[in-house]
Amino acid sequence: MAIDQILVLDFGSQYNQLIIRRFREMGVYSELAPYDISAKTIRQNPKIKGLVLSGGPHSVYEDGAFAGDPQILELGIPILGICYGMHWIAIRSNGEIKASLTREYGAQKVIIKEQTELLDDISELANVWMSHGDFLAKVPDEFRLVASSQSGMPAIICHKQLPIYGVQFHPEVGHTDHGNEILKNFAHKICHAKSEWNMDHYIETQIEQIRQTVGSESVLMAVSGGVDSSVAAVLIHKAIGNQLTCMFIDHGLMRKNEAEDVVNMFKKVLDIKLNWINAKDRFLEKLTGVVDPEQKRKIIGNEFIAVFTDEALKIGDFAFLGQGTIYADVIESGTKTAATIKSHHNVGGLPKTMKFKLIEPLNKLFKDEVRKLGIALGIPKAQVNRIPFPGPGLAIRILGSVNEERLMIVRESDAILQEEILRAGLNNQIWQYFTILLGVKSVGVMGDKRTYCETVAIRAVTSQDGMTADWAKIPYDVLDIISRRIVNEIPGVNRVVYDITSKPPSTIEWE
Ligand code: XMP
Repeated sequence: MAIDQILVLDFGSQYNQLIIRRFREMGVYSELAPYDISAKTIRQNPKIKGLVLSGGPHSVYEDGAFAGDPQILELGIPILGICYGMHWIAIRSNGEIKASLTREYGAQKVIIKEQTELLDDISELANVWMSHGDFLAKVPDEFRLVASSQSGMPAIICHKQLPIYGVQFHPEVGHTDHGNEILKNFAHKICHAKSEWNMDHYIETQIEQIRQTVGSESVLMAVSGGVDSSVAAVLIHKAIGNQLTCMFIDHGLMRKNEAEDVVNMFKKVLDIKLNWINAKDRFLEKLTGVVDPEQKRKIIGNEFIAVFTDEALKIGDFAFLGQGTIYADVIESGTKTAATIKSHHNVGGLPKTMKFKLIEPLNKLFKDEVRKLGIALGIPKAQVNRIPFPGPGLAIRILGSVNEERLMIVRESDAILQEEILRAGLNNQIWQYFTILLGVKSVGVMGDKRTYCETVAIRAVTSQDGMTADWAKIPYDVLDIISRRIVNEIPGVNRVVYDITSKPPSTIEWE
């Protein structure tokens, strides 16, 4: 990226992405780098204006503790060490780190003893977010002690000559008083990084890069109608026009009218070449009688690849594969430190025999930035703000086996739920909402007759990112309308229940 940037060295903190986001929110480009990136690599990029050494779950004195290249301390580039990062700096400069007997977790008061540029315009830190078991027992000789916690532990240190700082708390966390100002002071006053990061700049540089990479070759891209693949396709299309062909694999597990809407949007609104592959029968046949959730997911994933492979060969000859991989996917799939690494469906996955080169123009963007980019590219707002929908589709919202009749029940009940949430004006307050077919039959009475029919569950959650979620407090009168409509309008359903569990301990989807 040919703009000023601050690198966050990844020592395994759960807050890494938050640090990067804070810088980007102030217009300074930031990205994650491995903790052991060499000083030589950093020196080669004059656009790197500062380094943040993140916190981490380990102690610096443990065997196997993550160790960076000590020469980064001699580069003259400003450095901010956060928790583990500060300890790492300190022990390289004859400081001492010890395990503390009184662990300081949560909000703490910090007493400022001296001024430093990091605290410019900040006179008090009444609440900072601490989370550590170790502390700086001896401040290194070349450092000044700038602030301490109430119990006397060093909270901020600063090198006497060099622009190197350490903090024993998390300025990136919303609960920390003046946390943003501390990061702003670091970025602007200490690193002198310019605020050059914005979507127009991103579009321009990506278009240029895609054109250079692709040349006169062709790009194939599978789109799902989801935000990421749609935005990536539009960006690639803007760069290379009809050298891009999109493929929409309709697995028959989409919501009501969704497949038609996706095809319409690509063909009519966005004017992008799209091959609509109707593979419903292939998927349903493979799913017949399959009950185990993981098995269903695997079958759908494998069949998707099989259909894609078959159809790609029919459509033409493509050198490149476009993908809507976003930054969170890259970070979650590939860092050296994260304890919570999980493989992601967007990253990798195609058979080795398919020798595509990848074009992933969103792989530096967070989800909210992808949405901003989508709007900047002229994609309809409703599409950009579409509620998340899982790749395996309605199949994981039908507990037990999947067939046309059961699909009809989830599809129709989901459509009713969508309509009523929209009518009640709740769509912006609820992060995700859908129905589930439980496969549980119960007794009811309809028009004097005994019934023995299916149960539909409603799931609606509030969340920031899907990682944690709370059940949405939908007003009773809205739930009442939804329940009545589902039972009255969908044959074979006589009961509706509302899922009132948060995540954790539940997950958002039921399978
Ligand atoms: P869970 O059920 O894990 O879901 O709490 C968290 C979020 O991820 C979505 N989800 C998926 N998205 N492919 C996707 O693209 C999947 O296989 C998948 N499984 C769950 C889910 O809808 C929720 O938004």
